[in-house]
Amino acid sequence: MVAKLKGRVPFRADPWKATMRRLFPVLLALLLTCVAVPGQARAAGEVTYDEHSLMVDGRRIVLQSAEFHYFRLPSQELWEDVLEKFKAAGFNAVSLYFSWAYHSPRPGVYDFTGVRDVDRLLRTAERAGLYVIARPGPYINAESTGGGFPAWLKTVPGRARSFEAGYREAYREWLHRINPIIARHQVTEGGPVILYNAENEYQVNTDAAYMQDIQDQARADGIEVPITTNDCCDAGSWSSTWATGPGAVQIPGVDDYPQSFECANPELWGPWGEGLTEKLRDDIPVFAAEYQAGAIDLGNAGYERCRELTGPAFMKFFYKNNLMRTGATMFSYYMGYGGTNWGWLAQPNDVYTSYDYGAAITEARQLTPKYDEFKRQGLFLQAVTPLAKTGAVPSPATSGNAALTTVARANPDTGTQFVLVRHEDRAATSTDETILDWAAPDGRHQVPVQVKGRDAHVLVAGYDLGGQRLAVSSSEIMTHAAIGGRDVAVLYGTAGSPGATVLRYASRPTVKVLEGRVRVTYDEGDLRLDYAHEGLARVLVTGGGRRPLLLLIGTDETAAEFWRAETAAGPVLVRGTELVRSATSYGDTVRLAADTKAGPVEVFTPADRLRIGQDEIRVTRTPSGSLLGATRAPGQAHLPALTGWRAHAESPEAAPGFDDSRWTAADHTTTVSPHKPKTLPVLYADDYGFHYGNVWYRGHFTATGSETRVDLNAITGLRGNYLVWLNGRYLGSAAGGVQADSGDQATPPNPDPGPGRFDIPDGLLKAGAGNVLSVLVATTGHNDDWIADDLRFKQPRGLVAASVGDTPITWRIQGTAGTDRLRGPLSTGGLYGERTGWHLPTYPDKSWNSATGTLPPGVTWQRTSFRLDLPKGQDVPVGLRFGGDPSPAYRVLIFLNGWNIGQYGADIGPQREFSLPAGLLNEHGTNTLALAITAEQPTTGPGPLGLFAYGNVRSGR
Ligand code: GAL
Repeated sequence: MVAKLKGRVPFRADPWKATMRRLFPVLLALLLTCVAVPGQARAAGEVTYDEHSLMVDGRRIVLQSAEFHYFRLPSQELWEDVLEKFKAAGFNAVSLYFSWAYHSPRPGVYDFTGVRDVDRLLRTAERAGLYVIARPGPYINAESTGGGFPAWLKTVPGRARSFEAGYREAYREWLHRINPIIARHQVTEGGPVILYNAENEYQVNTDAAYMQDIQDQARADGIEVPITTNDCCDAGSWSSTWATGPGAVQIPGVDDYPQSFECANPELWGPWGEGLTEKLRDDIPVFAAEYQAGAIDLGNAGYERCRELTGPAFMKFFYKNNLMRTGATMFSYYMGYGGTNWGWLAQPNDVYTSYDYGAAITEARQLTPKYDEFKRQGLFLQAVTPLAKTGAVPSPATSGNAALTTVARANPDTGTQFVLVRHEDRAATSTDETILDWAAPDGRHQVPVQVKGRDAHVLVAGYDLGGQRLAVSSSEIMTHAAIGGRDVAVLYGTAGSPGATVLRYASRPTVKVLEGRVRVTYDEGDLRLDYAHEGLARVLVTGGGRRPLLLLIGTDETAAEFWRAETAAGPVLVRGTELVRSATSYGDTVRLAADTKAGPVEVFTPADRLRIGQDEIRVTRTPSGSLLGATRAPGQAHLPALTGWRAHAESPEAAPGFDDSRWTAADHTTTVSPHKPKTLPVLYADDYGFHYGNVWYRGHFTATGSETRVDLNAITGLRGNYLVWLNGRYLGSAAGGVQADSGDQATPPNPDPGPGRFDIPDGLLKAGAGNVLSVLVATTGHNDDWIADDLRFKQPRGLVAASVGDTPITWRIQGTAGTDRLRGPLSTGGLYGERTGWHLPTYPDKSWNSATGTLPPGVTWQRTSFRLDLPKGQDVPVGLRFGGDPSPAYRVLIFLNGWNIGQYGADIGPQREFSLPAGLLNEHGTNTLALAITAEQPTTGPGPLGLFAYGNVRSGR
């Protein structure tokens, strides 16, 4: 964790930027002398681009994407739920990393079935109506084990993330498996994939031949869409104007995390800069390839704090500021939904089981206030199409209040203007008002604007809003739609703030204020409405030479109650319900696929009848012309108590007589790892094909009798540990090391990364006879390779040194027993119980004792089962909660129906609640929970466990 931070902060912070800028002319000159500058490829298939935006079949789009990791949600049926939630928030794209480690247990072996079925994933994205940014790496980072590299790659020669032989064959193997799947889902094939991202934040220790080869392989595999990459650090090597040589991509983008990862301090405000995405080249759109939308919880503050750190205020200010000051038209927010580091998916030094990320959609798929803000902004970006092509223009003055400032852009073809109003001092917390003196395309207007500290508004003028002409408004536009022969528009502003909207008419229209307090004036074609943003005002305008307009003017909060969905008969707007996924219309009926609780629902539609899922909703027609009805409360969900726990001790490997003759002999004397062992043989688990979770070692030696101490050293990754027995007697435990050498020059190598020294009790050794040392090492995942340095990535796992005086030891090693075909390579480790199926639901535990009393050092399993019968047609995400306080005396692996869904313990992280995703969880039948508890000291183990529901809605599909 620390090493990663050290490796990263300097690159993100401004001094690095400054240095890069100083060095830039020198680097440029150097590069120009070294490389030829070939012509820039422009269009690929039907996806093209220019300096303003991407285009699909010539149609400009603002790409509004968010990141989703299918490998962090091992339930195909829930992919659809999350992606539909993306779409409903106004996203038109999803960014998908593809994790090599998740698919490949061994060289040459790849699995794309079940929860790894990415073909299905891409079909699901397409069905949800999302474009896809495909990001197959080969390196992805993502706080995932090995940064997405399979652990077997640590035994392959050739520096990872370079063009060196060994690594080259390996990454090509992965690309040739994943690329063809992506290729058949491209926009050019009628599918959703719109961009292909090569590598990831590849900026340190780079190799242009490698970067180029990834792209050549992609093209050879049929990738036709534009290739992009995400630069970590502003002026990056694949993105600057001079980067047109080998390795350069068509549309480079930049990653930006202005709010840092310090969730413990959610009051922070842009400690890592202002978060403006750079324009990298004159011929491409500005692409915010990863823009912060949550945070990893480096300080164990809990993800709710991360959600605060990156909450609606941050989103309003930073996202709108970025949009308006850079003219960016391509955004991908990291993360839209975080998910779970189930199994051994985590890169252990940065994250624990939950990868909730403080995202807009929680790990248990619940919508948060951040989701509302995405929806307000996302629907705006989709509805107001002139945003896809803008340039900077002079901005209107903020008369009378120097605290506020404006930034303006205009679409050169339509003249539509966009004005950002924010505080001059971005850290200001005061509420300020001004009269904006706006020389808009349809005339000059003075409109009142109020801006709360750490808020910002994007206002629009000179806009053909459907059949209307919006001269200017000091409310923000959320969306508008032509419904039943009239325009319906949703505008909004901060509750209590003043607003004015001016519309143009050929003659005085008829204006009816249906609800709210709105002052109406008309002067030479300008219809002016003045109001305060309160609740939801409704204004119906008819005549005046235009089709009717229903203006709905709300607050941030009332705007968030709206949803928009498209049907064959045109769009519908819905106010109320928890979520509208989609709508269909047939005959006189509109049918919503919506999540509901008890409450009112109002639908703006020409239809007369309303269905939600299978329910016919009784409706009345409102004065606004909408349908109004009510939805029912979801049925109660009963969650049983978890009782009837049975227990069984394991760790037979600790006993001297245990038969390890079928284990792998650990007798290597060389290793590919740049870390050379201090004692031989090499005991690195990966070198013997054991890559994830717990690993057992048994060392046999004939004692001289003069040995007094066992000296061990293990590297496990953060939060790992190891337990030691000699001749069956428990000697104790030690914390596993994190890095021998992080490869990061700021951190000196650690020659003694995970020491454990154990005195041999008198009388325990058998002089002149066989003695057995048993060591259980809990490894916690593999280092990432962010700095493209094998010193960091090829860090061993397991024992890295072992001695008992000078006495020779012969070793055997045992880890995971084969790959679980259903659950993939990352689910299961090498505990005895895992090797013998104690975690599986089918395991017969009837002979086990009821679980009570003290657990001895070593591993004890506890199992129980429970029946669920959750109400059909409802979405009730279930979690498992550990009561009481955890103790450092133990750690727990949690298996649900055989799936390792996480790790709990005082040393593991702040997490007390674990998501049990539907799909792994049988919602209508029996489930088995199995806990593997590794005790370092005698302990009573974890406190009482219970089930709870994260939410409960009717899911009308
Ligand atoms: C980015 C990286 C992502 C992820 C993120 C932090 O720099 O590209 O993979 O690690 O940081 O969560």
